[in-house]
Amino acid sequence: MLSDRMKRVTESATMKIAAETILLKRQGVDIINLSVGEPDFNSPDFLKAAAKKAIDENKTQYTLTRGITELREAISSRIKEDFNAHFSPDEIIVTNGAKQAIFNIILAIINHDDEVLVPTPCWPTYIELIHIAGGVPVRLKTDVSNDFKITPTQLKAAITPKTKAILFSNPSNPTGMVYSKDELEALTKILKESGIYIFSDEIYGKLVYDNFDYVSLAVYREFLNNKLILFQGASKAYAMTGWRLGFAAGPKEVINACNTIQGHSTSNVSTI
Ligand SMILES: Cc1ncc(COP(=O)(O)O)c(C=O)c1O
Repeated sequence: MLSDRMKRVTESATMKIAAETILLKRQGVDIINLSVGEPDFNSPDFLKAAAKKAIDENKTQYTLTRGITELREAISSRIKEDFNAHFSPDEIIVTNGAKQAIFNIILAIINHDDEVLVPTPCWPTYIELIHIAGGVPVRLKTDVSNDFKITPTQLKAAITPKTKAILFSNPSNPTGMVYSKDELEALTKILKESGIYIFSDEIYGKLVYDNFDYVSLAVYREFLNNKLILFQGASKAYAMTGWRLGFAAGPKEVINACNTIQGHSTSNVSTI
């Protein structure tokens, strides 16, 4: 008999289709897999060389659950360089992909019946992670008429005393939408006033084209009273989906809670 929790959760449709295409490929079927967000280039050679070196140097033992200090320092300076936002190394946890970062944060912050705003169309995993935690996803619908973007009015109307957080994807999978600086600023005013947590999934933030001036929500971290959590990782920007390397950056007490959860589940990411 499965747990009640499983009545609330459905299998990842993207993973199901991906598994199906892997099986069909094994049978020799010529098929293109458009289900998962898989870059069409390979992991860079310098990363492959570094990984081989790590194995040869026996860097193969348990590390800090939250990730080795050198890596968290490197991530901290990279966030500064790429997105002009400051998170100290102890405000960062390294995770098995951005997916685990988002899961950790949801488990750390969302109580039973807490509402989490999710602009849709969205990556289906958001809805299921909220369900697993016992929270209630509240969909903020967007469509082509508003360029798949939520408006400040829509956001304000959706916030209730039960709203604990918004789970925000910018750039968006699946729509490809990216908010401009002005649009983000208009939304941050409402978010600051509301006091809810802002979970900002920016895993596609390095894959922005046409000279678009991409602004990370993380630059508003202080303005948002330190309620912002940034999710990022190597999967998409460096074509490292199979390596499983992501991170969350946010307030120390929240990151420490993630460390506790991860310490009882997967521990550190692969040392390689
Ligand atoms: C919007 C979004 N966030 C997060 C992820 C997860 O990335 P990772 O492979 O780092 O877990 C994906 C993967 O498809 C995604 O599309």
